[in-house]
Amino acid sequence: METVTTIAAVRERVQTARRREVPVGFVPTMGNLHQGHLALVDALRERCGILVASIFVNPLQFGPNEDLDAYPRTLEADQAALTEHGVDVLFAPPVSEIYPDGMSLQTRVSVPGLGDILCGASRPGHFDGVATVVSKLFQIVMPDFAAFGRKDFQQLTLIRRMVRDLSMPVTIVDVPTTRAADGLALSSRNNYLSADERARAPALYRSIEQAASRVEAEQGSLEAIAAEAMASLEAAGFRPDYFAIRNRHTLAEAGPDDRELVILAAAWLGRTRLIDNRSADRPDKDSA
Ligand code: PAF
Repeated sequence: METVTTIAAVRERVQTARRREVPVGFVPTMGNLHQGHLALVDALRERCGILVASIFVNPLQFGPNEDLDAYPRTLEADQAALTEHGVDVLFAPPVSEIYPDGMSLQTRVSVPGLGDILCGASRPGHFDGVATVVSKLFQIVMPDFAAFGRKDFQQLTLIRRMVRDLSMPVTIVDVPTTRAADGLALSSRNNYLSADERARAPALYRSIEQAASRVEAEQGSLEAIAAEAMASLEAAGFRPDYFAIRNRHTLAEAGPDDRELVILAAAWLGRTRLIDNRSADRPDKDSA
């Protein structure tokens, strides 16, 4: 695997592959890679002739009081893991390569209706930062396929909308969440948990699973199911941010006729904000 740090160099490597008419696969990351990131790479390997990954801790998606400076940076270990998983080119630019004029004058991409709800309501500007950097990276790499994890379900939904709305010629491949044996979704931010918090953290996914069983059995209103889940998270020592049951395709509030739903939750455990989600289908009206 070759590591390049400039836009010109990554474009040159991709163009050489294009001349061989092979599909280009792309996995954007912020580094500190775990098995969840490597599953994204694995999902593209079969269908792509060249695999590009990026590591860029994007300052535009961090709020003023968030963990930009503390965000773990582990380039050497990440390079070894990506090499082992067959990545051909790693694009690891400095901030000045992506935002040469600084961030205040940077043109931004915003996805209305999706960027300011759920996590976007608690993290103003976060999803504009994500959409902006991902569209820049797509312009730089020009991938045929790009992989995103279902763990960040709102991000995945927003990227799909952005790609559709801006007619970007890339197919988004979504990859199931990788979990630890006790159910906790893998995330770089799990490293912030103390031993005691790590032991309690799987309660987040358990609360989502319990809510999913009730949604699937139509036991109670969605509001009642979500309110009970919030209470169970508080009892388990979390400070819940939201627990929401939404239309799986639009993330809009679920109406009585919506059958394909997603349950999304965000909750603080100490100083760590965890998110997770799971699909839940209400039985078809005819079969009920
Ligand atoms: O999911 C992430 O790691 C980031 O939000 C992404 C997509 C790499 C953009 O910075």
